[in-house]
Amino acid sequence: MKNDFLVMRNVSKSFYGVKALKNVDLTIRRGEIHGLVGENGSGKSTLVKIISGILQADENSVIEVDGFRYQKYNTNNTIQKGIQVIYQDPSIFPNLTVAENIAFNKIIEKGTKFINWKEITRIAKKAMDRIKIELYPDTLVGDLSLANQMLIAICRVITTNSKLIIMDEPTSALTSNEVDLLFRVIRILIAEGLSILFISHKINEVLEITDRVTVLRDGEKVGTYETKDLNYNEITYLMSNKKITESRYIFNNEDKEVLIEVKNISKKDNYKDICFKLYKGEILGISGLLGSGRTEVALTLFGMNIPDKGEILIDNKPVIIKSPIEAIKLGIGYVPEDRILQGLIMEESIGNNMVITILNSLLNRLKLINNRKKENTINYWTDKLKIKCTSSDDLVKTLSGGNQQRVVLAKWLVKEPKIFILDCPTAGIDVAAKDEIHKIIRKLANQGIGIILISDEEEELLNNCNRILTMHKGRIVKDFIVKDDIKKRIN
Ligand SMILES: Nc1ncnc2c1ncn2[C@@H]1O[C@H](COP(=O)(O)OP(=O)(O)OP(=O)(O)O)[C@@H](O)[C@H]1O
Ligand SMILES: [Mg+2]
Repeated sequence: MKNDFLVMRNVSKSFYGVKALKNVDLTIRRGEIHGLVGENGSGKSTLVKIISGILQADENSVIEVDGFRYQKYNTNNTIQKGIQVIYQDPSIFPNLTVAENIAFNKIIEKGTKFINWKEITRIAKKAMDRIKIELYPDTLVGDLSLANQMLIAICRVITTNSKLIIMDEPTSALTSNEVDLLFRVIRILIAEGLSILFISHKINEVLEITDRVTVLRDGEKVGTYETKDLNYNEITYLMSNKKITESRYIFNNEDKEVLIEVKNISKKDNYKDICFKLYKGEILGISGLLGSGRTEVALTLFGMNIPDKGEILIDNKPVIIKSPIEAIKLGIGYVPEDRILQGLIMEESIGNNMVITILNSLLNRLKLINNRKKENTINYWTDKLKIKCTSSDDLVKTLSGGNQQRVVLAKWLVKEPKIFILDCPTAGIDVAAKDEIHKIIRKLANQGIGIILISDEEEELLNNCNRILTMHKGRIVKDFIVKDDIKKRIN
């Protein structure tokens, strides 16, 4: 048996004349964890869609699976050949149980003849045993955490004869403990001889889990490398062709003007006794695991989660923020964590998505849209955030994941908020773009905007914030000034 499970040669893909992939070669060996990295829009997801047969590669592309060369390559071939994809948002059925979700592929495989409940539970238990996890088979999947849903998706794909599992940014919304759990499962599968294609913008994860890495840049393959021969800076350099050195944000707190003060707010089952002040020009960090209450506090400031107790003052005046519209009037902007769901209209153009909330300010005296002003705003932010598109008239859905996220940021930046809450603004964004976004955040802060930055990444918080609050089980358990803390670490 040949050692290579998947061999792709000369793979290209164009969308309406734009080349998303140019003559890419990729070989995935049996039993290896192969990393795929590249900046936003470099072609990773497109390549995955070709491997899984959802998209057809252009002519002259060669694809060989398990030693067999395909003339016509589509989803029928790929499932037969044991190629399966698990997305960031695993497609589980929330109204079905754990056992039903896991046995789903098997049920389909057997046709609709006869569903034996005992058999379903047996299939599910066997799959869970295989990856050493234990979930109650009768639980409805909709009630489980995203990490558990992902494990269920993995169980489902291993019930059929899987040989290659592709994971497209599986860890974006997982906590670090959950990532460890996922990695343990990945290692079990590898030991059984399966192959994994692992995509992530978290370079440290790629360094930790993969055996080899393929780097894409602008749709072209830069190279395939043994992971042990690479380090963080080398990978980011290969991806972007740029050296990235992050500096720290220096906060100048001379005028001490308080923009917002939160006094002892509490909400049952959400958070308790939260107090903090946000100054003009400050970048205040909030860290804490998912479920620590950090997003609930952010939603409160944005009028989407009214507290039971406590007080919020803006410009020293007490306010009750009952809806996002009121929050916006008070000068608050909020980039939610789940941007794809909450932030964008997929069937609209990039440009319209950006200006949708400021249409009023773009009207001229005749109450018609001032197109020049609109175009200028759109061009300014497309350029500033380096959104990779052929034209801002393209539909948002044609952008890569990371570029869609930039559109959401732009949508709020055009409103020029006084207080800007960012919930994990760089999740899913490549390293070079992350650096750009940090620069923009600092520039906004320098202009006097107060920023609340919620993040999972310690580096991101330390580099950008002057103060960091850590939340745990709904309370602030740590509050420190970054400068002092760093000094402490150094001494
Ligand atoms: N259906 C489509 N129509 C037009 N262009 C598309 C379509 N799908 C992808 N593209 C373009 O192909 C290029 C590669 O996109 P792809 O989604 O593969 O990037 P990616 O590497 O996965 O990026 P990210 O890290 O942001 O997820 C992008 O420029 C994107 O705009
Ligand atoms: Mg992608």
